[in-house]
Amino acid sequence: MASVLVLNGVNLGELGTRRPEVYGTLTLHDIESRLKEEFPHVNLDFSQTDSEGEMVRCIKDSAAYTGVLINAGAWTHYAYALHDALEQIHIPKVEIHISNVHRREEWRRHSVISPAVDAVVAGMGVWGYVAGVRYVLEKAAEPG
Ligand code: DQA
Repeated sequence: MASVLVLNGVNLGELGTRRPEVYGTLTLHDIESRLKEEFPHVNLDFSQTDSEGEMVRCIKDSAAYTGVLINAGAWTHYAYALHDALEQIHIPKVEIHISNVHRREEWRRHSVISPAVDAVVAGMGVWGYVAGVRYVLEKAAEPG
């Protein structure tokens, strides 16, 4: 059975109440339920942490999954350790952002983790996670 790990980083535990005008009103739990509904035949694991070290460990533990999605929150913009952990993992990887980071503050436009992933989704809300799971499944099924 295909398996996908969905990692959410710093401050994403507050989804639903944190700046709803930017991130919407869905909680992480709602996103998890939505993905389970969309992909009933995929083993989906979810993890959220506010600790960067814990996130590095989660990334390293993802090697046996079919694919991994990561919304690294603000770490995206400066956490080189996450880049270095991701580049060691050789499964399909997608960077997710709920908001369109390119339409916000200048500092959000740069991601230090993008060079270590296969694809980036920004601004699609919960759909970004759905698209990300679909992508890693398709990518993992590609020959070669
Ligand atoms: C975010 C965008 C980041 O800039 C921000 O720090 C977040 C959430 C997003 O999902 O849009 O915490 O990754």
